[in-house]
Amino acid sequence: MSTTIPYKPGKEPHAREHRLIFRNVDRADYDPSIDCYIRNGGYVQLKKALGMERQAIIDEVKKSGLRGRGGAGFPTGVKWGFIPPTNTKPVYLICNADESEPGTFKDRYIMHQDPHQLVEGMIISCFAVKAQLAYIYIREEFPEAAIILEKALAEARAKGYLGKNVGGTAYDLEIYVHRGAGAYICGEETGLIESLEGKRPYPRIKPPYFPAALGLYMSPTIVNNVESLCHVKHILEMGSEAYAKLGTPNNTGTRILCVSGDVQKPGYFEVQVGHVTMGEVINDLCGGLKPGRKLKAIIPGGSSAKVLRADEKFKLKDGRELGIMDIPMDFDTMAACGTMAGSGGVIIMDDSRSMSWVINNLNQFYAHESCGQCTPCREGSLWMKKISDRIVAGTASPSDVDELLRVANNIEGKTICAFGEACSWPTQSFVKKFRDEMIGDTKPELESKIVNPETVLAAANLV
Ligand SMILES: Cc1cc2nc3c(=O)[nH]c(=O)nc-3n(C[C@H](O)[C@H](O)[C@H](O)COP(=O)(O)O)c2cc1C
Ligand code: SF4
Repeated sequence: MSTTIPYKPGKEPHAREHRLIFRNVDRADYDPSIDCYIRNGGYVQLKKALGMERQAIIDEVKKSGLRGRGGAGFPTGVKWGFIPPTNTKPVYLICNADESEPGTFKDRYIMHQDPHQLVEGMIISCFAVKAQLAYIYIREEFPEAAIILEKALAEARAKGYLGKNVGGTAYDLEIYVHRGAGAYICGEETGLIESLEGKRPYPRIKPPYFPAALGLYMSPTIVNNVESLCHVKHILEMGSEAYAKLGTPNNTGTRILCVSGDVQKPGYFEVQVGHVTMGEVINDLCGGLKPGRKLKAIIPGGSSAKVLRADEKFKLKDGRELGIMDIPMDFDTMAACGTMAGSGGVIIMDDSRSMSWVINNLNQFYAHESCGQCTPCREGSLWMKKISDRIVAGTASPSDVDELLRVANNIEGKTICAFGEACSWPTQSFVKKFRDEMIGDTKPELESKIVNPETVLAAANLV
């Protein structure tokens, strides 16, 4: 991306980047104050929005094709449209700033370096969905960002962009920062809402499927990710048509990739969705693998995304056959390759990594973070940890690897919230794709003489 913006030395965006949301991140001449933001065109889109029909803003967001950047990639405008038209209760908006998915580190830079971009995006969004009270639910581990945001909100209030008569109109709005309880499950939107209500963050039973129908205090509530809410401002600025030309059809706009692991230059990169391939991420954006190393595996969308093996081939419905390096970084192709673009956290692993160690590391995280509300997840995540502990310690038998998979299969689809999938997909994919390596880490002489109960049931034709 050619730019005249002065970035800090060594922090210049890569030529393949297209910066909208991260335009001001790492700028040498930029600070998080409202004055700096306004000098750079800040709050102009809010003034424009306040003069628009609310439905026109929602329509713009729908037409832009924006898909949520928090993980599921759900269309933002469609979600906003779920607020019941006959609603008479207060509407709330919550900015999900929990950023808890391992491998993801984008929202924190927005909050640290360009907090008013988020505040402006939130005010426009609140106005569009008729919310008069909004919260930024921020993980407890981001204390500095919470202070920066509180300062930004106070500045916006002092300028008349928050509080009574926003921007001189009849519209009133308050936004508060709420520090989270410090748990992965507080990022799941219904767990987050429970936590905000002062309760344990136990995710809610569905239906209702969307808090837009019944959310905070049982009122319609829009929950959106930090990055998603920032995009709203740019959609108004560019117009939905121009925004939708960025990226690829059904995968519009830009998104921030957070690349970590075994590459020369890990970091964050904002690219047009689907305009760079996995190979370009590794070799161009990140300067390649470490010297003398070979690619082994990639987790493309945060730790919950299914792992891809370096030598896999993916046959798509349109007839294309892709190798791992050919996969464009978009929602739909990732899904077609059996994984997900998720939260944009790309974890690269080279041939120095033990796959038993990696899955054990993830299983330790999930066992620790399960809220414990439903049995398959509470017990299963712990069992997956225990079995993979044994594999790493060299005290597992070969059949433990299949047992690990059996436990994972008994979690997926059987739980209250998507944490069930988030914790079982890594194990399922690692065992499927690296079974031989994992079995190689076990000891046949430790094979138990105890017959697996499923074998007995199968023999009796009961399963
Ligand atoms: C276990 C779990 C953790 C999650 N953590 C986050 C998170 O940290 N940040 C986030 O924005 N979304 C997270 N989500 C997704 C949210 O539930 C929700 O879909 C998202 O905030 C909606 O925003 P979006 O539509 O803008 O993506 C998580 C989901 C699950 C199941
Ligand atoms: S799936 Fe796990 S995290 Fe989600 S509600 Fe059940 S126990 Fe809690």
